Amino acid sequence: MKVLIVGSGGREHALAVSVKKNPAVEKIYCAPGNAGIASVAECVAIGAMEFDRLAAFAKEHDVDLTIVGMDDPLVGGIVDVFEAQGLRVFGPRKNAAILEGSKAFAKDLMKKYSIPTASYTTVSDPAKAYAFLERASYPIVLKADGLALGKGVLICETRQEAETGVKEIMEDRKFGDAGNQMVIEEFLTGREISVLSFTDGKTIRTMASAMDHKRAGDGDTGPNTGGMGNFSPSPFYTEEIHQYCCDHIYQATVDAMAAEGRPFTGVIFFGLILTKDGPKVLEFNARFGDPEAQVVLPRMKTDLVEVAEACIDGRLEETELAFTEDACLCVVLASDGYPVRYEKGFPIRGLETFDGKTDEMVFHSGTKFGEHGEILTNGGRVLAVTALAPTLKEAREKAYRAAERVTFSNKYMRHDIGHAIDEV
Ligand code: AMP
Ligand code: GLY
Repeated sequence: MKVLIVGSGGREHALAVSVKKNPAVEKIYCAPGNAGIASVAECVAIGAMEFDRLAAFAKEHDVDLTIVGMDDPLVGGIVDVFEAQGLRVFGPRKNAAILEGSKAFAKDLMKKYSIPTASYTTVSDPAKAYAFLERASYPIVLKADGLALGKGVLICETRQEAETGVKEIMEDRKFGDAGNQMVIEEFLTGREISVLSFTDGKTIRTMASAMDHKRAGDGDTGPNTGGMGNFSPSPFYTEEIHQYCCDHIYQATVDAMAAEGRPFTGVIFFGLILTKDGPKVLEFNARFGDPEAQVVLPRMKTDLVEVAEACIDGRLEETELAFTEDACLCVVLASDGYPVRYEKGFPIRGLETFDGKTDEMVFHSGTKFGEHGEILTNGGRVLAVTALAPTLKEAREKAYRAAERVTFSNKYMRHDIGHAIDEV
């Protein structure tokens, strides 16, 4: 069997490692991939948004299954292009990926189907936004409607800050067309939990929970990033909370999408917040998280390829997911200055110390090969150093010890990934 993975980050590296575990898989391609993915897959120099070229490649190379890791191609309709050409592909169609692609769509869906979320209003005209802010209470949350590399959410403490935010999103168009519409939302407080799930459009199976660290600095300070590290499972995701989410959120979302004529096949990522009034949905993503994939997939005992195929064929009901008891924690090694301004192109040392280990892994997020085959930094997030161990605390110690073995100029990491574990 031949598998193509679309994307180029740590998530796609983790996907490739999981796909490789299936004995029927003889070849993995990744487009465009990176220097770490090249150790498990053949990287193909086609961009993730070049749908026709990707489909032509899949046909020419007899690819049996394509797994799309990234949000942009999913929201842009890559699955529809592949399906129209008779290719098997794992991910939501364009009309379902809108669950992530439009925050206004997601909020309206939750409202219509009584899925718990923050109260909100949608505006498509800045004058209406300013008028709303006059009567609002603070803090308040502004969200650009479309994809904005995870940067389109602003938490505003004062009316003045919110007005600046509206100007940036809607008038200065800082996030381009993503700011054509905006959601203005009630500010919620509580612990955040990421729950990823597989769905075939009817049945949903949730994966083990994870807890992300989105802010750049220790103590959850500094700007929002794509994620500086995380761990699985979250000790705060209790059986009781899980049951509540099963009853009010997970199946309800799948059923709502189906009722809207937008059946969702693929991965739904539920960004949850545990408020004093119960769990609520902060956001949906239409794909695995990054770095959530790097801590959830190493714990998954169920074969990823088999689950993906069950979703495509609409027979997920027959599948149960299993996860190891071991905990997993990942520390992202970034380029100093990420997410604002940073340099890249520096040689990375120490990667060979991970060879052959299954309890300590290094997933590549932003790396490339230099002229002489050496591995260089090539992004804000560079590597995700991940460790498995019987407890979260042991996994944390192990991951941080392993992170010390890797060096490159301007290496930056948070030193407090997993700090919440100490409160349990
Ligand atoms: P999102 O991209 O929607 O996940 O938002 C990024 C981050 O902004 C979330 O992980 C939360 O930390 C924060 N956030 C989003 N919506 C809210 C909200 N309504 N109240 C408080 N924080 C929020
Ligand atoms: N780590 C959050 C995301 O993938 O959106």
